[in-house]
Amino acid sequence: MIITIDGPTASGKSTVAKLLAKKLNFVHLNSGLLYRGIAYVLVKFFNYSEQDLISPKQTDLDQIILNHKLVYKYENQQAQVWYEGQDLTPYLKNKEVDNFASISSAAPQVRASLMSIQRQVAQSNDVIAEGRDTGTVVFPKADRKIFLTADLNIRADRWQKSMLAVGKNYTLEESMKLVDARDQRDISRHIAPLKPAQDSIVIDSSNLTCDQVIAKICEYNIKKNI
Ligand code: DC
Repeated sequence: MIITIDGPTASGKSTVAKLLAKKLNFVHLNSGLLYRGIAYVLVKFFNYSEQDLISPKQTDLDQIILNHKLVYKYENQQAQVWYEGQDLTPYLKNKEVDNFASISSAAPQVRASLMSIQRQVAQSNDVIAEGRDTGTVVFPKADRKIFLTADLNIRADRWQKSMLAVGKNYTLEESMKLVDARDQRDISRHIAPLKPAQDSIVIDSSNLTCDQVIAKICEYNIKKNI
């Protein structure tokens, strides 16, 4: 079974997907982590500049993907991305990688490269797939599709708090600007833009706790006879 949860930055989808995967004993497929991983590898191991990230070379992507050097793992209920035997996960959640991933994820060749990894994970597991296009492009035939959203000021506040938790201090105004810029890039890109799948249910989490969002998803699943 495949359940997709898409939505903008800081809509709460990662937290919800993680908890839901635990509850249902599914694999949490965090596609954003893969986009972060590939951007990080291009910068750190292939010396890409921000400019280079706009259009990565297919030969570089093939080297990373085809030899199975980039690997998605879900171990001890933790989503992880590894490269050449090294766990990159601790280096992927910061403002620099936010920016790198936001740039390279608009490149069609990057999206195509990561599609196969995502589909492979779902071939042998029940998954909660989470990202921007998991319901629209990667798993168009998913069993259940959720689009999770929230007001920009609430998402900026959540993002600011998540950064503070890792020792990074941003004002609310800076957070709003950064979150909004990433939204705009995700929504306006030509390929796989961020949007709800036609057959998704949209949940606005602005005034909901994580548990309330999960309860809504479970209610919807029960209605659909999960
Ligand atoms: O969900 P996240 O913030 O970890 O995602 C990191 C970046 O990757 C973000 O800029 C959007 C992009 N992304 C994407 O384009 N498609 C996905 N399915 C998941 C993430």
